[in-house]
Amino acid sequence: MAMTYEQVKAKVEKYGQQQVLKYVDELSDSQKEVLFAQIEATDMDVIACCQHKEDMIKRGVISPLGAMELSEIEANRESFTKTGIEAIRAGKVGAVLLAGGMGTRLGSDNPKGMYNVGITRDLYIFECLINNLLDVVKQADAWIHLFVMTSDKNNDATIGFLTEHEFFGYNKDYVHFFKQEMAAATDYNGKIYLEEKGKLSTSPNGNGGWFISLQKNGLLDLVHEQGIEWINVFAVDNVLQRIADPCFIGATIQKNCVVGSKVVRKAAPDEKVGCMCLEDGRPSIVEYYDMTQELMDAKNEKGEPAYNFGVILNYLFYVPDLEKMMESLPLHVVEKKIPYLDENGNLVKPEAPNGYKFESLVLDMIHQLSSCLPFEVVREHEFAPIKNKTGIDSVESARELLKKNGVVL
Ligand code: UTP
Repeated sequence: MAMTYEQVKAKVEKYGQQQVLKYVDELSDSQKEVLFAQIEATDMDVIACCQHKEDMIKRGVISPLGAMELSEIEANRESFTKTGIEAIRAGKVGAVLLAGGMGTRLGSDNPKGMYNVGITRDLYIFECLINNLLDVVKQADAWIHLFVMTSDKNNDATIGFLTEHEFFGYNKDYVHFFKQEMAAATDYNGKIYLEEKGKLSTSPNGNGGWFISLQKNGLLDLVHEQGIEWINVFAVDNVLQRIADPCFIGATIQKNCVVGSKVVRKAAPDEKVGCMCLEDGRPSIVEYYDMTQELMDAKNEKGEPAYNFGVILNYLFYVPDLEKMMESLPLHVVEKKIPYLDENGNLVKPEAPNGYKFESLVLDMIHQLSSCLPFEVVREHEFAPIKNKTGIDSVESARELLKKNGVVL
């Protein structure tokens, strides 16, 4: 049974969140019902995290983890590729596109994948990704199931857009959508914002929830039915990335690893990318803001930087081991621009970050798995992330890289 007003009031008082009921008297019965259900479903313990966010994530002992480097990959390319193609043909490989993010830095109201990077013609981010995947479909002569994670905020727009464009030539029977979950967003004091008088501000709960959301939406059954053993998870914003790359899949299988992670050689020791490492002896990723000077200066036996390989959010997971993962992922408190109702009840879309959202991250899954193969790729060929409109990791920089790789814009 749904919570009564008294119960809702008791819950928000317990957590010091009374402000979310500010307009309750102005709401119709059905609006109240929606708001109460949302308050009931919101995990408010989580929000208390931002009061002590510095000590939320305790790091273990970090040590270096080498990558499979380009020379080794080249020497084995044929054999790895053969293994990968066999796995794809046997239907053992699926792909998950993480497209639930808000793309606030890019600042478009549409889903990021709808962004048009073309200059003389239309070329959408989704289209770039599908073209890249189609290369492999052709090479293997087999379709690959593509699961697309969206959120409440962009699900309908994403499905509408891809349907309208006939999935850019992809076989629609192999495309499946699922929604991730949302989490409440707060101001800097941990108070939940309202986005409407009868609605808490929410934002997607981070890309770490993809496997649980896949399961909750019933798609893990499809994974089982189809015999999919490997899932390549990738971000929406890297327009150059290779998806379901046979050589990468084959290398991970041959090395008996349960995760593969595409990495690029870092441009500089202090570059702002997460870096592959061991943490308490298990594979892990140290984020750039956790990189101490000591880690940046550390050298390996070849005299090269010991933490030299940055992750590009392209991972290959072995499904049976994902299913064994029991621990929940740590939460990250992230500063974001959050639309909210001001004192007078008017909606404000802020220009600068104004509070926190709470996210779990796919990179934290690595640490819960027993073995990981960092697999080096050439940055100029496979890494063109679009985070911003201009400058670093932007539409501009990605266009340059697309052109260098022969893509007509
Ligand atoms: P980012 O970390 O770049 O976040 O996401 P974002 O929300 O898209 O962008 P900003 O920070 O607001 O500008 C990396 C990848 O993870 C996906 C994104 O869609 C992107 O592919 N993601 C992120 C999700 O699928 N869900 C989330 O909750 C967050």
